[in-house]
Amino acid sequence: MNRRFGTGLTIAAAVVAVAPMTARQSVALKDLMPRGMAIGVAINQRQSDGVDTVAADIITKQFNQITPENLLKFQSVHPAADRYVFEAQDRYVQFGVDRKMLIVGHTLVWHQQTTTWVFQGADGTPADRETLLARMRDHIHTVVGRYKGKIHGWDVVNEAIDEDGSLRKTPWRDGIGDDYVAKAFEFAREADPGAELYYNDYNLEKPAKRAGVVRLVKDLLARGLRVDGIGNQAHWRLETPTIDEIEQALAELNSTGLKVMYTELDINLLPQAARGADPSVANPYATGLPDEKQQQLAKRYADIFGVVVKHRDRVSRVTFWGLSDADSWLNRGRMNYPLLWDRQRQPKPAFEAVADVLKRASAGVR
Ligand code: XIL
Repeated sequence: MNRRFGTGLTIAAAVVAVAPMTARQSVALKDLMPRGMAIGVAINQRQSDGVDTVAADIITKQFNQITPENLLKFQSVHPAADRYVFEAQDRYVQFGVDRKMLIVGHTLVWHQQTTTWVFQGADGTPADRETLLARMRDHIHTVVGRYKGKIHGWDVVNEAIDEDGSLRKTPWRDGIGDDYVAKAFEFAREADPGAELYYNDYNLEKPAKRAGVVRLVKDLLARGLRVDGIGNQAHWRLETPTIDEIEQALAELNSTGLKVMYTELDINLLPQAARGADPSVANPYATGLPDEKQQQLAKRYADIFGVVVKHRDRVSRVTFWGLSDADSWLNRGRMNYPLLWDRQRQPKPAFEAVADVLKRASAGVR
């Protein structure tokens, strides 16, 4: 059979199949969010460069906030001691400026995606405290300073707390000492006193880790530093964390006096499979997602947005970590389905579920 509209029947079927999707997408999430709460997406370079125009159009229509998936990480923007690269980074920022979006910077100080030169001293020994502080300050002043007044808020420090709540052992901490986090916030405020500054981390539904984050943030505030929000990455699964755990985490993070942002939301549908595991176990949806799972994903997203609208005064933003399933970092050679748009860039039942929750909430309150 000719699959490309070879018969009148196929054309009719295709029109019927596509029409409702288009209709659904005429709804924009950004128009449905609780007042004052931003809704955003991490965008990749093909999107901010305007190469992936289909994605760029959906992003423009649906979202009022963007985060760079990789472009503003240390290794991307500052690959060598004497070299900063800003071309694609400038296009990312311009993408947001052109669309009047809230532009987030991600991320200044992290133990990943940071080139090893940063931590090396002159003779191959680890860099000492003064050298590292000078590098951190130069990096933050240069990058934050360049986008002063344009980037609305920065993930200043990413993932500094370990699972047991202690300060994670990283080359930054090894070289500078425990106050490296405070120093990063100090430099960021100097570089752009008008920018919001965030601490960002994952697994915050785990009590021990969350307690460590609360301690860290309280310490920063006690030092008189500017901290505007806690980013909860929200890389979650279908069953975990539970909605109760999510609400509990929100309440405890709010106990610092700060609002919470869900900064990297996605729902991983794949099992945690060991390397070399049987593909039918490790990659169960290689040929498509069963309808039952599709519905479970929609329900999961509805429940999550239920929390968001219920606690609208405690949450300042929700950001998805990628636009469509094709863009997600969670594929890694497998087929994952963590987001609201599918690989054909059509909205999934999960999109509709989120839109419905938001519509019902706004009808009730506005
Ligand atoms: C991920 C990106 O999505 C990938 O493209 C990259 O290869 C690795 O980093 N926590 C974070 C994000 O704060 O920066 C990470 O992004 C996902 C986990």
